[in-house]
Amino acid sequence: MGWRFSSGPDAKVQRFTRSVHFDKRLYREDIAGSIAHARMLSEIGVLTAKEFSAIEKGLRQIEKEIEAGTFVWSEAREDVHMNIEAALTERTPAGAKLHTGRSRNDQVATDMRLWVKHQIAVDLSLLARMQKALVQWATAQSQVLIPGYTHLQRAQPVYLAHHLLAYVEMFDRDRGRLQDCVKRVDVLPLGSGALAGSTIPLQRERVAELLGFASVTRNSLDAVSDRDFMLEYAAANAVTAVHLSRLAEDLILWSSAEFGFIRIGDAFTTGSSLMPQKKNPDVAEITRGKSGRVIGDLMALLTLVKGLPMTYNRDLQEDKERLFDSVDTVQETLDVMAAMLGDIRVNEEACARAVADPLLLATDVADALVLSGVAFRHAHEIVGQAVACAEKLGCPLSKLPLSEWRKIHPPMEPKTLEVFDVEKALARRRMTGAPGARQVRAELARWAKKLG
Ligand code: ARG
Repeated sequence: MGWRFSSGPDAKVQRFTRSVHFDKRLYREDIAGSIAHARMLSEIGVLTAKEFSAIEKGLRQIEKEIEAGTFVWSEAREDVHMNIEAALTERTPAGAKLHTGRSRNDQVATDMRLWVKHQIAVDLSLLARMQKALVQWATAQSQVLIPGYTHLQRAQPVYLAHHLLAYVEMFDRDRGRLQDCVKRVDVLPLGSGALAGSTIPLQRERVAELLGFASVTRNSLDAVSDRDFMLEYAAANAVTAVHLSRLAEDLILWSSAEFGFIRIGDAFTTGSSLMPQKKNPDVAEITRGKSGRVIGDLMALLTLVKGLPMTYNRDLQEDKERLFDSVDTVQETLDVMAAMLGDIRVNEEACARAVADPLLLATDVADALVLSGVAFRHAHEIVGQAVACAEKLGCPLSKLPLSEWRKIHPPMEPKTLEVFDVEKALARRRMTGAPGARQVRAELARWAKKLG
């Protein structure tokens, strides 16, 4: 490109350096940015009103053609920016003035920021839909109890709704991270030129206003080379992907014969090509798998930026595919997982069977001993011995005779052992954040209201 070269690029080089095959998806942002820039140029007298309107008309026409699929993209024109500008200049001579005071360095940074702002708005609504799907499921099954697990060992009983609401909290933090990130995305780099601004008296604030940016960047060197906003966004996506992966893992476990807590609808499972009886939770498994790829996108972006000298370097062209992949993957996964949650049946009997194990209430006996004045460490030891004794006698902890308890702890009162009713045990968990029935109901109502 340009008059200083005696030959065009080698075909291999052209193929190697082009980006139009992936950055053409920025056409809308690129055109919006160009129209705002041109409008400002006309306002400061660099373009006549006629030139501006020819540019605007030409760009809108190009946009329509791209949308209709009739625009001819040229690999020789390297990227989305040059394709659009060259096509415009073919249509109107005023096109040759569009790039005044602008470089592709500040242009691509602007396009990406516009694109990210739009995508974050999409993510926020997809996350809210995911949260709603969880709250709906939790509300429909609000009476169902399951064991809560630590170390994947049955620990203490909780409502299924409480477990699902844990994910609602996680996805809410994901929304918060995006809302925070967007503040730093919402800054206009255009007007920074290639790296050192321009001698033309550009009205940057005016362009920001036209494009809906909250402010303009304060350092031209930083503005053309800063990719923090992409790193933050990719990091937020990676956390969301990890949350989705954990949810997927729970669903995979719960749908196994070993747990049997849920059955995922046929539309969201697949069969085996060999074993006729199989019904596999592939959507959940692929979700778990995709988290690796979204984490990889973040690592690639961090590594890309890490060794770059100031300011723009062509390496940065590699940022797009990784960020696009991160965004596309998370959005598609949120969409399919939210739909799948609406097609899950709970096997209430299997849940009831799993939660009926009186050992899940061993901690409640220790708590009851504490409330009767025994020190917790001592209470822990008493119940531990009782569990071992019940195991030896082959009887459930709730059926261990008072006489056996008294061998371990002579002052044991029958009242202290009246803790083996799961519903009552849950009702005793009353603080904020606890899995008690009232708390869970209140949380479900709070989320339903908040999510609208
Ligand atoms: N396609 C390039 C990118 O994505 C646009 C900027 C090119 N700038 C340059 N000085 N060659 O980074």
